[in-house]
Amino acid sequence: MLGLQCRSKEEWLDVVKENPERVLCDHAHCEKKAAIMAISLMNRYPDRRELVESMIELAQEELSHMQMVLNKIYERGYEFLRDPGDGYAQALHDMIRKQEPYRLLDTLLVSSLIEARSCERFQLLSESVEDEDLALFYRSLLESEAQHRTQFLKLARLYFPREEVDERFRELAAKEAEIVTNLSSIAMMHG
Ligand SMILES: [Fe+2]
Ligand SMILES: [Fe+2]
Repeated sequence: MLGLQCRSKEEWLDVVKENPERVLCDHAHCEKKAAIMAISLMNRYPDRRELVESMIELAQEELSHMQMVLNKIYERGYEFLRDPGDGYAQALHDMIRKQEPYRLLDTLLVSSLIEARSCERFQLLSESVEDEDLALFYRSLLESEAQHRTQFLKLARLYFPREEVDERFRELAAKEAEIVTNLSSIAMMHG
């Protein structure tokens, strides 16, 4: 699904269903970090017009997602907790090569994989969370994360040869699957 090489574990689903507050807080931070990543990309590559335009749009959309998640947190009387950190995203970012233009290619592909995993997880949540309001909420976000996944891939294919993109995507997707398989199933979006 979406170029991912493994499915999220059932245990993860069981844990997140029990901890809606922690998951929503972590989710809000994920949306915030997605917006920060979009801004950092346009800051790093101001000469890539398509990328800048695409990232302006994305940053705004991710911030509006963050607002939606925050509204859910407050409307339920939950507290917006501190960012617990995201070992999954960190492990993926550690695989980004330091040298250009590979840094750009890897950043786009890692971002695409993170969006794909979010999409897969929203799908699982929307199908299995018993709280109807939350299930609908996750369903409403699913499609835009799938679009973001494609948006990053399209940018990669715009700036790099198709073959190189596809080969590196498969390599990174294999590592992503390994990271996901080794996660300890905690109440986080990427737990
Ligand atoms: Fe988002
Ligand atoms: Fe996204």
